[in-house]
Amino acid sequence: MNKRKPFLFSLLNIPPKPLFCNPFSLMALNQTQTQTQTRTTHPDLPPNDELLCSNPQQNQDEQSCSSLSDTPPSQIGCPGKYLSGESRVERAWAHWTKLGRPKLIVAPMVDNSELPFRMLCRKYGAEAAYTPMLHSRIFTENEKYRNQEFTTCKEDRPLFVQFCANDPDVLLEAARRVEPYCDYVDINLGCPQRIARRGNYGAFLMDNLPLVKSLVEKLALNLSVPVSCKIRVFPNLQDTLKYAKMLEDAGCSLLAVHGRTRDEKDGKKFRADWNAIKAVKNALRIPVLANGNIRHIDDVRNCLEETEADGVLSAESLLENPALFAGFRTADWVADDEKENLDGKLDQADLLLEYLKLCERYPVPWRMIRAHVHKMLGDWFRIQPHVREDLNAQSRLTFEFLYSLVDRLRELGVRIPLYQKDT
Ligand SMILES: Cc1cc2nc3c(=O)[nH]c(=O)nc-3n(C[C@H](O)[C@H](O)[C@H](O)COP(=O)(O)O)c2cc1C
Repeated sequence: MNKRKPFLFSLLNIPPKPLFCNPFSLMALNQTQTQTQTRTTHPDLPPNDELLCSNPQQNQDEQSCSSLSDTPPSQIGCPGKYLSGESRVERAWAHWTKLGRPKLIVAPMVDNSELPFRMLCRKYGAEAAYTPMLHSRIFTENEKYRNQEFTTCKEDRPLFVQFCANDPDVLLEAARRVEPYCDYVDINLGCPQRIARRGNYGAFLMDNLPLVKSLVEKLALNLSVPVSCKIRVFPNLQDTLKYAKMLEDAGCSLLAVHGRTRDEKDGKKFRADWNAIKAVKNALRIPVLANGNIRHIDDVRNCLEETEADGVLSAESLLENPALFAGFRTADWVADDEKENLDGKLDQADLLLEYLKLCERYPVPWRMIRAHVHKMLGDWFRIQPHVREDLNAQSRLTFEFLYSLVDRLRELGVRIPLYQKDT
C-alpha cells in the first residue's frame, strides 16, 4: 500500500490513523453457530448465509470476551436532566471535542456497517463509525439478536450505535444495554423503506414529531452517553429547520442530516441537497454531520466546505471502496490519461482479503460477507462474470472458497487498481 499521507489529513491537520489495529476483546459471541430467528432474511440468499461465518469460540481472543447479554444496564445517572439549553450545547461540544472531532465517518448500513467492515474503514481513514440500525424492541427481547447483530471491540471507537424505535421506554431499555460500549446512541429517523412504514419507525416518524421528541428526551434525560439523531430533510426547508431545532431542544447532542427527502430513495437518481444541510448547520448550535453525494475524497472536501458541517458520512461509496477516506478512488473518478501515474498500489481484492481476515477474527453472518464480496468485487465480476456465477451457486460459503475466488480472478489477469492523487 502506498503510505503517502492522504491530502485530506494535511488539509484538516489531522494525523492519519495507525494502519494496524490489534483488537483485544470480542463481545457478544458466546453462542455456537445458529440461525438468526429474529431478522428478516434476504429471500435471495441461501439459508446458510444466516449462520455466523465461524465458530466464535475458536476466534475469541483469550483475553476478556464478554457477552452483551451479561452486561447490566448502566448505573450512571441522568446527566442531561437539570442542564439548561446553553449547558447542553456546551456539553455536546465538549463530548465531540473529546472524541477528536471526527470528520470522516462510516454511515449506518443494515447488514453492511458491521464490526469487521467498520474496522477495515477505520484502518483506511475513517475516524468514527455507526453500527447498522438495530431494532430496539427485538434488541430488548431477544438475546440471540443482540449477540449476533451487535459486536464491538476496544478499538471500535468512536462508535455510534443506532436504533430504530417508536416507544421511548423500549428505546431506553435497548440503549442502556449498549451505552458502556459506545459514544452516542443514535436514533434512526431517516429510513424510508417499506419495512419502516409498516413498523412505524425511521423517516415515517416525520409524521409524528411529538413522538420523536419524546424518544429524544427519554434518552437525553436518562442515558450517560449523548443521544444523536440521523434525519432526512423535508421538501420544505422551513419544516426541516423547525424539525432540527426541535431535536436540538429535546436534547439531541449531534445531528446527521441526509440531504434527501423521504421520497428520494434512490441515491443515484436524486442528489442530496447540501444547501439544506448548510441551513441546518447554520440554524443549530450542536455538531451537525452531512450525508449524501460522497463518491471520493474531493467530494468530502467540497461537502465540508459548502455545508460547513462538522463531518461527513459516507455509505454506498464506502461499500465499493472502503479506502475512500484515505484518498483512494475507483477508476470512475480518474481521467484515463492520468491512470498510469496514479496507481495507488492497492485494489479492491486487497481490501476484500483484509476484510475476510477481519471476519475470521470478528465473526459475522455469512450474508454480510457475501454482500461485501459483491460490492468490493463488482467491477471485477463484470470482467469475469462466470466467477460471480460460481459465487452465487455456492450455498455454503467458506473462507477457503472466498480466498481461492480472489486467487482465480488474479490468475485470470483481472486487476483494477485504486488510484491516489493529490488535489
Ligand atoms: C446497504 C445500506 C444500508 C443502509 N442502512 C441504513 C441504516 O441502517 N440506518 C440508516 O440510518 N441509514 C441506512 N442507510 C442509508 C445510509 O446511511 C445513507 O444515509 C445513504 O445511503 C446516503 O448516503 P450515501 O449517499 O453516502 O450512500 C443504508 C444505506 C445502504 C446503502
